[in-house]
This record gives sequence, structure tokens and C-alpha cells, in this order.
Amino acid sequence: MATITAFDAQPAFLSVTWDDGVESTYPWIWLRDHAHDEATLHPVTQQRNLHTASVDPNIAAASVDVEHGDVRIAWNSEPEPSLLPVDFLEKFRAPVPTSVRVPVQPVLWDAESIVPTPSTPYDDIMGSDEGLTDWLTKVAQYGFALATGTPVTREATEALVRRVAYVRESIFGGFWEFTADLSKADTAYTNIELLAHTDGTYSHDAPGLQLLHCLYFEGTGGDSTMADGFRVAAELKKSAPQHYETLSRVMIPGQYVGDGSHLMSARPVLRHDHNGDLVQVSFNNADRAPFLLPHDEMIAFYDAIRAFDLLANDRRLQWRHVLEPGEAMLFDNWHALHGRAAYTGVRKLCGAYLNHEDFESRLRMAS
Ligand code: OGA
Ligand code: ZN
Repeated sequence: MATITAFDAQPAFLSVTWDDGVESTYPWIWLRDHAHDEATLHPVTQQRNLHTASVDPNIAAASVDVEHGDVRIAWNSEPEPSLLPVDFLEKFRAPVPTSVRVPVQPVLWDAESIVPTPSTPYDDIMGSDEGLTDWLTKVAQYGFALATGTPVTREATEALVRRVAYVRESIFGGFWEFTADLSKADTAYTNIELLAHTDGTYSHDAPGLQLLHCLYFEGTGGDSTMADGFRVAAELKKSAPQHYETLSRVMIPGQYVGDGSHLMSARPVLRHDHNGDLVQVSFNNADRAPFLLPHDEMIAFYDAIRAFDLLANDRRLQWRHVLEPGEAMLFDNWHALHGRAAYTGVRKLCGAYLNHEDFESRLRMAS
């Protein structure tokens, strides 16, 4: 922990010098807004009690002291002084772009480097916080991970999902089971090949994660596939930056038509956050709704989506595995592209969608 070696109350801000020489400046209104007394910050909910807009815009310090790990500021325009812990100020020693990302770096992978498959035993996940953290960290790193030794029942699988977060309801229900019976208007309910895709390109907030557990399979084919969307994007950026740029910009509409629903949304394949970091890959050729752009843009789109699709389905970048009962697969639908080879016979899966923010919350609580 850094300590304060000097401070100086300037007319517009507090200047702080830390023991390693770093100098920080904090505007007075920011210090007032972030005071830690109960009238400003609720000690239980961590919500702001202060009505910030009511603070005098010209607020400044009458005096400043550092005592017992707190900076104590007496104000020129308010009777009560404010306390701010030094370790709170330390977190904001320099202005940084706001980031809400979890502190786990993706590990880009290809077919060779994803061996052995990221996995955690079901019993560890259910039985200890370390086990859960291990599994979720792998999902955050690689975009997917198996829970091995999952009891082959709907109930045990649902318990596994609920260990991570609550189940997300959608047009497919909450926790679902499916087989090739076309009970929904979606190729997931057939036995034909599903090329690399993400789910919910027709949803403004595409499902964050999906868990799939094969409860029964008697037949041939049916390999599950995964591709690292961030790796695909990185390769595209290197080999064809113009395609990367196109896929970062062009808004592609997705739609779901059937079962009494007509859902639509639009997103670029590569969504970046305000810091320019890639945060979501969305790609579903089957669910793309018709759209027409000016000629040159339209051709640029087809060139770019072709390059992306071919990379996403390139075996060099693909994990392939016939999921066996007992191997529940959790994947980040904003990070990995999933698919499934055609199959014959009878195959029954169960699973659920989860929200991305709840997964992130679990990871934050763990770290
Ligand atoms: C899906 C899907 C994969 C599978 O339901 O969206 O991709 O293994 N299913 O059936
Ligand atoms: Zn899918």
C-alpha cells in the first residue's frame, strides 16, 4: 500500500504526493462526491446517499489533514468535514479509462494448443469455491470449459447451472431439453450440421453463456465444435485488416421468426467497448436478416464475412469432440463460436442460457 508523503490544497484541487513519487490531483467536487461518511455513502448498500447536483460547484477545502489512514477535509461551504480512506484514493492515483471488464485475460487458442480440453470436475465445482473459480476462470480464458463427471440427469445439470447464476428465460424456456424434433423453429432442433455460430444475434443482449449437457446419444457423428472468436478476430486483423474494420462497423441484423415470435436486433460481428477492446463476437449466418447496403459496402461485407466464416470453421482453429453424457460444456457465447456436426440416431441435450453480467459477477466475487 502506498502512503502519502505530501499534500497541497490548491484552489481547484487537492494535490497528493505518494511515497513512490507519483503525484495525483483530485478535484474538490470529486472528493466531496466520494466521501465515505454515512450521509454520502450508505455503509451497507454501497450506494451514494449524496445528491451530487446539490453540492456547491465551487466547493473547496478550508483545511486538509491526513490522520489514521484517512484524508480529512473541512469544507468552505459545508459544516461537516469529509473523510476519504487513503487506500480508496490510492485506487485512483491516475485518471484511467473506465473499464468494467473482469480481470481475466483471454488466452487465444487453436486446435493444437487447446489440448487437453479445459475441464474441471463437477464435484469440485459443486463442492468448493476454488473448484467453481477454476471452472469459470477457464471459461473466461478460453471461452469454454467442461464440467467432467456431471451426473447424467436434468436435475444435476440444472444445479450446476445455478451454481454459476440464475437461468435466463428466453423463447426456448428456462432450463431446456432438446432433441431433433423441430419443436422449435430452429436448426438446433434438427440433426443437420450447425456451422460455427453464436446464439441470439436476434437479441439485443445475446445470451452471455450457454451450458449444454448431452444426456443421451446413440448414433454417429454429432461432434461438438468450438472456435475461439477472439483468436479468429486476431487472425483476421493480421491477415486482412480491412475485413476486420468492416466487421467492426457494419451493423448486421439478426432475426428469429416462428413460435409466435419475431425477434430482431443488429450488431457488428466484432463489438468493441469504449476503450477499443473487443468484447463480443456475434456471428450467425443462418439467422442473418436480409439487408442491403450501398454497392461497395455490400461487397465489402460479403468479402469480410466470407473470410471470417472460413476462419471460424477452419479445422486448424477448431476444437472438436463428441460430447459424452457426463461432460457438461459451459461456453461464453460472446467469446466462442460453437457448432455441431450432423448426426444420425438419437441425441438428447439439456441446458440453459445465463447472463453475461451474472457470470462476470461470480468471477469478481471469486477474485
Ligand atoms: C444450439 C446449438 C448445439 C448442439 O442449440 O444453438 O448450437 O450440440 N446446439 O446441438
Ligand atoms: Zn447454438
